Amino acid sequence: MSELNNIVLKILSNGKGILAADESTGTMTKRLGAVGVESTTENRLLFRETLFSSESMKKCIGGVILYDETIKQNSKSKKTIPELISTSGAVPGIKVDTGAKVLAGSPDEKITEGLDGLRERLKEYYKLGARFTKWRGVYIISDKYPSKLSIHSNAHALARYSSLVQESGMVPIIEPEVLMDGEHSAEDCLIKTTKVIKECFEELNKNNVDLKGVILKPNMILPGSGSTKKISNEEIAKLTLKCLKNSVPKEVPGIAFLSGGQTEIEATENLNLINKYNDTNFIMSYSYGRALQQSAIKFWSKDIKNIEGTQKIFNHRANMCSLAAQGKWSKELEAK
Ligand code: 13P
Repeated sequence: MSELNNIVLKILSNGKGILAADESTGTMTKRLGAVGVESTTENRLLFRETLFSSESMKKCIGGVILYDETIKQNSKSKKTIPELISTSGAVPGIKVDTGAKVLAGSPDEKITEGLDGLRERLKEYYKLGARFTKWRGVYIISDKYPSKLSIHSNAHALARYSSLVQESGMVPIIEPEVLMDGEHSAEDCLIKTTKVIKECFEELNKNNVDLKGVILKPNMILPGSGSTKKISNEEIAKLTLKCLKNSVPKEVPGIAFLSGGQTEIEATENLNLINKYNDTNFIMSYSYGRALQQSAIKFWSKDIKNIEGTQKIFNHRANMCSLAAQGKWSKELEAK
């Protein structure tokens, strides 16, 4: 088995998933602002270190995606943050794109940037301890979107990124996020997400990316957040499986969903059902940002010195996600 495939399995096996803690400073400032905490370097580190040193890191979290600021910081114990993460058995990862910018030629849409100088940045991140990376492409849904231009440009960038990452000895997370915003139906989300993912794999093949050494991070198939046509969690799970069966090559070892604005419970319940109905060989797990951190950050904001209490909340959420990644979650367990 290849070294890259081993990294994927280390991150995603046995009900483990990924903690996406790679919010840019701008996004983190919004998240902290929403709970009334000042966004200082110290506060951002304190919250993140609280999560990274919690008990569930050993059992539930196989990988942590960091932001550039955090991967270079030291923990209280003087270990670097990547060392702290590795101590619990998880793999440190790093977001390497530099954000989604207006797509010239289709200004309502976005193209993700960050390829210039990427080879050199990857070398630095590898030295700092990273063994996997993330790049997020973002797509909107409407009658005419995502456009062919956006589907193609983002797939091309994701593929060029992936081959550079594998060249540097790390696993690329390929994240094509079709946003939940809008009034579209789940059927529309299914058609468009399938198209987006298919094109990503076409480009990955053209760039000779080893598919056994990647993780796909897709959205689930959901109706738009403004849609009046809600569907059941069972339907969400079945449509999501249908999409992935039609678009993801069998060589891909693991899929780790983003939560994309779902509540913690929605993201957990949907993942659980996906695993219940999973008749593929793909590992289906999580790479959640908000759906792992929301309750923890709310609790923490009331007393940022209450490390133990915050960790308890985070441990519970991570445990629930880990059970869902094995199809063993139930609503009753939430109350315990
Ligand atoms: P959410 O789970 O909050 O959507 O974040 C995942 C992520 O990493 C987005 O790029």
